[in-house]
Amino acid sequence: MEVLPSVTSGDSQIPEHVAIIMDGNGRWATKRSLKRLRGHEQGAEAVREAVKGCGELGIRYLTIFAFSSENWSRPVEEINHLMGLFRFFFQKEVKALCEAGVKVKFIGDIRRLPGDIQELIEDLKERTKDNSKLILTIALSYGSQAEIAGSMRRIADKIKAGEIAPEDIDEIMVARHLETADLPDPDLLIRTSGEQRLSNFLLWQCAYTEFVFLDVLWPDFRKEDLIGAVEEFGSRNRRYGAV
Ligand code: IPE
Ligand code: IPE
Ligand code: MG
Repeated sequence: MEVLPSVTSGDSQIPEHVAIIMDGNGRWATKRSLKRLRGHEQGAEAVREAVKGCGELGIRYLTIFAFSSENWSRPVEEINHLMGLFRFFFQKEVKALCEAGVKVKFIGDIRRLPGDIQELIEDLKERTKDNSKLILTIALSYGSQAEIAGSMRRIADKIKAGEIAPEDIDEIMVARHLETADLPDPDLLIRTSGEQRLSNFLLWQCAYTEFVFLDVLWPDFRKEDLIGAVEEFGSRNRRYGAV
Protein backbone atom coordinates (compact mmCIF):
# COMPACT_ATOMS: atom_id res chain seq x y z
CA MET A 1 0.00 0.00 0.00
CA GLU A 2 1.41 3.31 -1.07
CA VAL A 3 0.44 5.94 1.49
CA LEU A 4 2.16 8.84 3.15
CA PRO A 5 3.81 7.99 6.50
CA SER A 6 1.32 9.89 8.66
CA VAL A 7 -1.64 8.23 7.01
CA THR A 8 -1.55 4.56 7.83
CA SER A 9 -4.23 2.05 8.56
CA GLY A 10 -5.08 1.67 12.24
CA ASP A 11 -3.91 5.23 12.92
CA SER A 12 -6.43 7.26 14.95
CA GLN A 13 -6.00 10.01 12.34
CA ILE A 14 -7.95 7.87 9.91
CA PRO A 15 -11.60 8.94 9.81
CA GLU A 16 -14.03 6.11 10.46
CA HIS A 17 -16.66 7.56 8.12
CA VAL A 18 -15.97 9.65 5.00
CA ALA A 19 -18.81 11.29 3.07
CA ILE A 20 -18.28 12.69 -0.42
CA ILE A 21 -20.30 15.17 -2.48
CA MET A 22 -19.16 14.13 -5.94
CA ASP A 23 -19.54 17.42 -7.80
CA GLY A 24 -18.20 18.90 -11.03
CA ASN A 25 -18.99 16.30 -13.70
CA GLY A 26 -20.74 18.84 -15.93
CA ARG A 27 -17.95 21.39 -15.69
CA TRP A 28 -15.34 18.71 -16.39
CA ALA A 29 -17.10 17.95 -19.68
CA THR A 30 -17.87 21.57 -20.62
CA LYS A 31 -14.19 22.47 -20.17
CA ARG A 32 -13.41 19.88 -22.84
CA SER A 33 -16.25 20.99 -25.15
CA LEU A 34 -18.01 17.69 -24.46
CA LYS A 35 -21.62 17.06 -23.49
CA ARG A 36 -22.27 17.05 -19.72
CA LEU A 37 -23.15 13.37 -20.02
CA ARG A 38 -19.50 12.52 -20.77
CA GLY A 39 -18.57 14.02 -17.42
CA HIS A 40 -20.96 11.70 -15.61
CA GLU A 41 -19.43 8.72 -17.43
CA GLN A 42 -15.92 9.74 -16.32
CA GLY A 43 -17.22 10.21 -12.79
CA ALA A 44 -17.84 6.49 -12.48
CA GLU A 45 -14.07 5.84 -12.64
CA ALA A 46 -13.53 8.27 -9.77
CA VAL A 47 -16.06 6.32 -7.69
CA ARG A 48 -13.93 3.19 -8.17
CA GLU A 49 -10.86 5.14 -7.01
CA ALA A 50 -12.66 6.41 -3.92
CA VAL A 51 -13.91 2.95 -2.95
CA LYS A 52 -10.49 1.40 -3.49
CA GLY A 53 -8.73 4.20 -1.64
CA CYS A 54 -11.04 3.95 1.37
CA GLY A 55 -10.47 0.19 1.53
CA GLU A 56 -6.70 0.67 1.46
CA LEU A 57 -6.71 3.40 4.10
CA GLY A 58 -8.82 1.33 6.47
CA ILE A 59 -11.81 3.69 6.34
CA ARG A 60 -14.87 1.69 7.48
CA TYR A 61 -17.70 3.77 6.05
CA LEU A 62 -17.94 5.67 2.78
CA THR A 63 -21.11 7.57 1.88
CA ILE A 64 -21.38 9.10 -1.59
CA PHE A 65 -23.90 11.61 -2.92
CA ALA A 66 -24.81 10.28 -6.37
CA PHE A 67 -28.14 12.02 -7.10
CA SER A 68 -30.09 14.51 -5.02
CA SER A 69 -33.85 14.94 -4.72
CA GLU A 70 -33.28 18.35 -6.33
CA ASN A 71 -31.43 16.76 -9.29
CA TRP A 72 -34.83 15.49 -10.53
CA SER A 73 -35.32 19.03 -11.87
CA ARG A 74 -32.51 18.57 -14.44
CA PRO A 75 -33.27 18.08 -18.17
CA VAL A 76 -34.88 14.70 -18.90
CA GLU A 77 -32.02 13.72 -21.22
CA GLU A 78 -29.45 14.17 -18.43
CA ILE A 79 -31.61 12.30 -15.90
CA ASN A 80 -32.10 9.39 -18.31
CA HIS A 81 -28.39 9.22 -18.98
CA LEU A 82 -27.61 9.17 -15.28
CA MET A 83 -30.18 6.40 -14.77
CA GLY A 84 -28.47 4.44 -17.55
CA LEU A 85 -25.14 4.86 -15.78
CA PHE A 86 -26.58 3.69 -12.45
CA ARG A 87 -28.05 0.66 -14.23
CA PHE A 88 -24.68 -0.15 -15.81
CA PHE A 89 -22.66 0.49 -12.65
CA PHE A 90 -24.90 -1.52 -10.31
CA GLN A 91 -24.80 -4.55 -12.62
CA LYS A 92 -21.16 -4.39 -13.59
CA GLU A 93 -19.64 -3.62 -10.20
CA VAL A 94 -21.29 -6.33 -8.08
CA LYS A 95 -18.47 -8.81 -8.54
CA ALA A 96 -15.65 -6.34 -7.85
CA LEU A 97 -17.46 -4.96 -4.81
CA CYS A 98 -17.93 -8.46 -3.40
CA GLU A 99 -14.28 -9.30 -3.98
CA ALA A 100 -13.28 -6.13 -2.14
CA GLY A 101 -15.55 -6.99 0.81
CA VAL A 102 -17.83 -4.00 0.27
CA LYS A 103 -21.37 -3.97 1.64
CA VAL A 104 -23.63 -1.61 -0.32
CA LYS A 105 -26.49 0.32 1.25
CA PHE A 106 -28.76 3.03 -0.12
CA ILE A 107 -30.38 6.13 1.35
CA GLY A 108 -32.92 8.34 -0.43
CA ASP A 109 -36.32 8.00 -2.04
CA ILE A 110 -35.58 4.92 -4.13
CA ARG A 111 -39.29 4.61 -5.08
CA ARG A 112 -38.88 7.54 -7.49
CA LEU A 113 -36.39 5.53 -9.58
CA PRO A 114 -37.38 3.34 -12.56
CA GLY A 115 -38.60 -0.10 -11.43
CA ASP A 116 -35.72 -2.06 -12.94
CA ILE A 117 -33.18 0.10 -11.09
CA GLN A 118 -35.07 -0.53 -7.85
CA GLU A 119 -34.68 -4.26 -8.55
CA LEU A 120 -30.95 -3.87 -9.25
CA ILE A 121 -30.61 -2.00 -5.96
CA GLU A 122 -32.31 -4.82 -4.05
CA ASP A 123 -30.06 -7.33 -5.79
CA LEU A 124 -26.90 -5.35 -5.01
CA LYS A 125 -27.91 -5.02 -1.35
CA GLU A 126 -28.72 -8.72 -1.08
CA ARG A 127 -25.53 -9.89 -2.79
CA THR A 128 -23.24 -7.71 -0.68
CA LYS A 129 -25.07 -7.98 2.64
CA ASP A 130 -22.57 -10.32 4.32
CA ASN A 131 -19.53 -8.15 3.48
CA SER A 132 -18.07 -5.96 6.18
CA LYS A 133 -14.70 -4.50 5.16
CA LEU A 134 -16.22 -1.27 3.89
CA ILE A 135 -19.82 -0.08 4.19
CA LEU A 136 -20.57 1.91 1.03
CA THR A 137 -23.76 3.96 1.30
CA ILE A 138 -25.04 5.46 -1.94
CA ALA A 139 -27.30 8.49 -1.53
CA LEU A 140 -29.65 8.31 -4.50
CA SER A 141 -32.70 10.53 -4.95
CA TYR A 142 -31.63 11.74 -1.51
CA GLY A 143 -32.46 14.99 0.27
CA SER A 144 -31.60 15.56 3.90
CA GLN A 145 -34.57 17.77 4.73
CA ALA A 146 -36.98 15.13 3.39
CA GLU A 147 -35.11 12.51 5.41
CA ILE A 148 -35.49 14.56 8.61
CA ALA A 149 -39.20 15.09 7.86
CA GLY A 150 -39.50 11.31 7.45
CA SER A 151 -37.93 10.78 10.87
CA MET A 152 -40.46 13.23 12.36
CA ARG A 153 -43.32 11.37 10.68
CA ARG A 154 -42.20 8.00 12.03
CA ILE A 155 -41.90 9.44 15.53
CA ALA A 156 -45.33 11.09 15.26
CA ASP A 157 -46.82 7.74 14.22
CA LYS A 158 -45.40 6.14 17.36
CA ILE A 159 -46.83 8.91 19.53
CA LYS A 160 -50.22 8.47 17.84
CA ALA A 161 -50.03 4.73 18.53
CA GLY A 162 -49.30 5.49 22.20
CA GLU A 163 -45.86 3.84 22.02
CA ILE A 164 -43.95 6.95 23.11
CA ALA A 165 -44.69 10.40 24.57
CA PRO A 166 -43.59 13.78 23.10
CA GLU A 167 -41.25 14.22 26.10
CA ASP A 168 -39.33 11.13 24.94
CA ILE A 169 -38.13 12.90 21.79
CA ASP A 170 -34.45 13.77 21.97
CA GLU A 171 -31.52 13.92 19.56
CA ILE A 172 -30.86 10.20 19.86
CA MET A 173 -34.45 9.36 19.00
CA VAL A 174 -34.47 11.64 15.93
CA ALA A 175 -31.16 10.10 14.75
CA ARG A 176 -32.52 6.58 15.22
CA HIS A 177 -35.43 7.34 12.90
CA LEU A 178 -33.24 8.69 10.11
CA GLU A 179 -32.25 6.46 7.18
CA THR A 180 -28.68 6.59 8.51
CA ALA A 181 -29.70 5.12 11.89
CA ASP A 182 -27.14 2.33 11.63
CA LEU A 183 -24.22 4.54 10.51
CA PRO A 184 -21.90 6.64 12.66
CA ASP A 185 -21.93 10.36 11.75
CA PRO A 186 -19.35 11.29 9.09
CA ASP A 187 -15.98 12.37 10.50
CA LEU A 188 -14.84 13.91 7.24
CA LEU A 189 -16.91 15.38 4.40
CA ILE A 190 -15.21 16.04 1.07
CA ARG A 191 -16.81 18.14 -1.66
CA THR A 192 -15.12 18.40 -5.03
CA SER A 193 -15.55 21.12 -7.70
CA GLY A 194 -14.75 24.11 -5.49
CA GLU A 195 -18.35 24.68 -4.32
CA GLN A 196 -18.57 25.16 -0.58
CA ARG A 197 -22.07 24.11 0.43
CA LEU A 198 -23.93 21.02 1.58
CA SER A 199 -26.68 21.07 -1.08
CA ASN A 200 -29.09 19.22 1.23
CA PHE A 201 -26.68 16.37 2.08
CA LEU A 202 -26.59 14.84 5.61
CA LEU A 203 -27.53 18.10 7.36
CA TRP A 204 -28.32 16.46 10.71
CA GLN A 205 -25.41 14.00 10.56
CA CYS A 206 -22.75 16.65 9.81
CA ALA A 207 -23.20 18.58 13.06
CA TYR A 208 -19.53 17.97 13.98
CA THR A 209 -18.08 16.75 10.71
CA GLU A 210 -14.84 18.25 9.38
CA PHE A 211 -15.26 19.70 5.87
CA VAL A 212 -12.61 19.60 3.15
CA PHE A 213 -13.39 21.40 -0.10
CA LEU A 214 -11.26 20.42 -3.09
CA ASP A 215 -10.85 22.40 -6.30
CA VAL A 216 -10.58 19.18 -8.31
CA LEU A 217 -13.59 18.26 -10.49
CA TRP A 218 -15.08 14.87 -9.59
CA PRO A 219 -13.99 12.97 -12.77
CA ASP A 220 -10.38 13.95 -11.94
CA PHE A 221 -10.59 12.75 -8.31
CA ARG A 222 -7.91 10.17 -7.55
CA LYS A 223 -6.61 8.29 -4.54
CA GLU A 224 -4.02 11.03 -3.92
CA ASP A 225 -6.87 13.54 -3.44
CA LEU A 226 -8.44 11.24 -0.86
CA ILE A 227 -5.12 10.88 0.93
CA GLY A 228 -4.65 14.66 0.90
CA ALA A 229 -8.10 15.20 2.42
CA VAL A 230 -7.45 12.55 5.08
CA GLU A 231 -4.17 14.26 5.95
CA GLU A 232 -5.95 17.59 6.25
CA PHE A 233 -8.50 15.88 8.51
CA GLY A 234 -5.62 14.58 10.66
CA SER A 235 -4.38 18.14 11.24
CA ARG A 236 -7.76 19.37 12.52
CA ASN A 237 -8.52 19.80 16.20
CA ARG A 238 -12.02 18.49 16.88
CA ARG A 239 -13.42 20.08 20.01
CA TYR A 240 -17.14 19.27 19.95
CA GLY A 241 -17.87 22.49 21.79
CA ALA A 242 -15.50 21.71 24.66
CA VAL A 243 -12.19 23.47 25.34
C1 IPE B 1 -22.30 16.05 -9.98
O1 IPE B 1 -21.85 16.80 -11.06
C2 IPE B 1 -23.15 14.88 -10.38
C3 IPE B 1 -24.58 15.03 -10.08
C4 IPE B 1 -25.11 16.04 -9.45
C5 IPE B 1 -25.45 13.96 -10.52
P1 IPE B 1 -22.72 17.95 -11.70
O2 IPE B 1 -23.58 17.38 -12.77
O3 IPE B 1 -23.44 18.70 -10.64
O4 IPE B 1 -21.60 18.86 -12.35
P2 IPE B 1 -21.50 20.43 -12.32
O5 IPE B 1 -21.60 20.87 -10.89
O6 IPE B 1 -22.63 20.95 -13.14
O7 IPE B 1 -20.17 20.74 -12.92
C1 IPE C 1 -24.97 18.02 -5.21
O1 IPE C 1 -24.49 18.62 -6.35
C2 IPE C 1 -25.59 16.70 -5.54
C3 IPE C 1 -24.67 15.65 -5.97
C4 IPE C 1 -23.38 15.76 -6.06
C5 IPE C 1 -25.28 14.40 -6.31
P1 IPE C 1 -25.34 19.70 -7.19
O2 IPE C 1 -24.52 20.05 -8.36
O3 IPE C 1 -26.70 19.16 -7.44
O4 IPE C 1 -25.46 20.91 -6.16
P2 IPE C 1 -25.70 22.44 -6.41
O5 IPE C 1 -26.89 22.56 -7.30
O6 IPE C 1 -24.47 22.99 -7.06
O7 IPE C 1 -25.90 23.02 -5.05
MG1 MG D 1 -22.97 20.31 -9.50
